[in-house]
Amino acid sequence: MRVLTLLNEKGGVGKTTLAVHIAAGLAINGARVLFIDTDPQGNGTTSFNVMAGKYQNLFGLLIDAEEWRDVLVAPSPESWAGDYVVEGRLSVLAGNIKTRLIPASTDNMLLMRQRLEELEGLVDWVIMDTSPTPSLLNVMLLNATTHTMHPTQLEALSLSGLGRTLEHIEAHNSSRPRNQDEVQVLGIQPTMYRAGTTAHQTGLQLLDDAYGEMVYPPTSLRIVWSEASYAGQTVFAYAPDSPACDEAWGLVGKVQLGVMQHG
Ligand SMILES: Nc1ncnc2c1ncn2[C@@H]1O[C@H](COP(=O)(O)OP(=O)(O)OP(=O)(O)O)[C@@H](O)[C@H]1O
Ligand SMILES: [Mg+2]
Repeated sequence: MRVLTLLNEKGGVGKTTLAVHIAAGLAINGARVLFIDTDPQGNGTTSFNVMAGKYQNLFGLLIDAEEWRDVLVAPSPESWAGDYVVEGRLSVLAGNIKTRLIPASTDNMLLMRQRLEELEGLVDWVIMDTSPTPSLLNVMLLNATTHTMHPTQLEALSLSGLGRTLEHIEAHNSSRPRNQDEVQVLGIQPTMYRAGTTAHQTGLQLLDDAYGEMVYPPTSLRIVWSEASYAGQTVFAYAPDSPACDEAWGLVGKVQLGVMQHG
């Protein structure tokens, strides 16, 4: 089981959008996928048109100790797969404002990891969307994470959020318990790229200088992403013939290839 967590301590850089599309794309391609919304904003939950029920949420799993079968929701494939044939399957663990209470309700920083171990053999990929605000919850999430991916806009503040995020992962890796594997950084995904602008060219150059091959080809700023979001759909469902959809598949392919190369 691979656990991919999307992180950037800057808001609005495309974490949720990409997490939702990676989860949907992997499920269409045949994987058994679990999407976990760890952001109290619950944007990922909304994107899949599901509601966080009284116990059907991350707090229910971690603090109320609910069973997995009682907390998972199956979102309607119409909204995330459209006309694609779904070869795998997708479940959602919703998030809501109660997620904020989790760090104050337990001091077991291995809780997420322990609960995910129950799904070994049943799930191929866990995709975790995160809040831009670092908290103790992130420590718990990193303890459960095998791989990370880092969306970033090509703006100065997003790049500094990215830098802080990667420093935290490095610190996590160097202080982790001996029996725990290192978190592998799969890649950095520049988002909302505007070709032909000096600022974004500068951003790409800075990323290339600092992180080289870890940087994925950018996804462009396109209004179709917002339109799909208004329609409550992924771009796979909303605009399957669009360049945005091609870019989303490109990203899914990078993730699949990346784990094959990194192990
Ligand atoms: N390539 C793109 N082109 C245009 N708009 C985009 C693109 N990617 C995402 N968006 C839009 O940008 C907004 C912010 O994206 P998103 O919510 O995924 O960011 P986030 O990092 O999850 O934010 P937060 O930190 O608040 O959770 C959304 O309205 C989304 O539809
Ligand atoms: Mg988000």
